[in-house]
Amino acid sequence: MTATTASTPTITDYAKSRHTAKGYDSSKTISDEHLEEIRKLLQLAASSTNAQPWHFVIAGTDEGKARVAKATEGLFEFNRPAVLDASHVIVFASRNELSEDYLLKVLDQEDKDGRYDAPEASKDKMHGARKMFYNLHKEEIGDAEHWLDKQVYLNLGSFLLGVSALGIDATPMEGFDTKRLDKELGLDAKGMHSLVIVPIGYRDESKDYNAKLPKSRLPYSEIISEI
Ligand SMILES: Cc1cc2nc3c(=O)[nH]c(=O)nc-3n(C[C@H](O)[C@H](O)[C@H](O)COP(=O)(O)O)c2cc1C
Repeated sequence: MTATTASTPTITDYAKSRHTAKGYDSSKTISDEHLEEIRKLLQLAASSTNAQPWHFVIAGTDEGKARVAKATEGLFEFNRPAVLDASHVIVFASRNELSEDYLLKVLDQEDKDGRYDAPEASKDKMHGARKMFYNLHKEEIGDAEHWLDKQVYLNLGSFLLGVSALGIDATPMEGFDTKRLDKELGLDAKGMHSLVIVPIGYRDESKDYNAKLPKSRLPYSEIISEI
């Protein structure tokens, strides 16, 4: 008899198998070990100039999830059950601006992490480059807040793929009252605003109709040009 070995899934296997979960099994909780992997995923995402203009609120208690769910009342009621039933809900927030203090904090962290240990590395150059990019968006292009938001969405993209590799279901949501959530969580007072909330956990097969639907994407001919 020949032994069979399960082949290691590829990144595209995870991209294909992940989906937006439409209903959660409220009795299932993400393990502490996986929660730590999730914190790491959020921390390690790439961002332009390594600005990391994000903040995440992780709601893992019934009370915390109920606070997030308030922002689905009314227009976004359809998103409410997933917020309440998921194991955890992650709020993806963006900074309204990058202050000099914040830019120096990022620079000091890079220094502590050894980024400027090599003789050819220049801390001043990096600080100048980061400021140059930010000021370009702030003063010339005029889209600084949008530019910061885009970095947070980039984090969301790698997060969705990352959690699928952990066997965790997720539901990215823009369907909530951002102003209400910002007040509820005190994000506005901290100079931040929410962009997306993501319930994560384990699907309830009886509610998650999306798990059974085939993926639908535009063909290569529409989305890719090769030159
Ligand atoms: C930024 C963003 C916001 C979304 N908002 C919602 C939402 O509020 N509610 C919801 O059920 N799905 C939401 N979705 C899920 C999309 O509809 C879904 O990703 C898309 O149809 C592709 O399907 P798939 O994620 O199952 O591959 C959102 C997705 C993204 C990326």
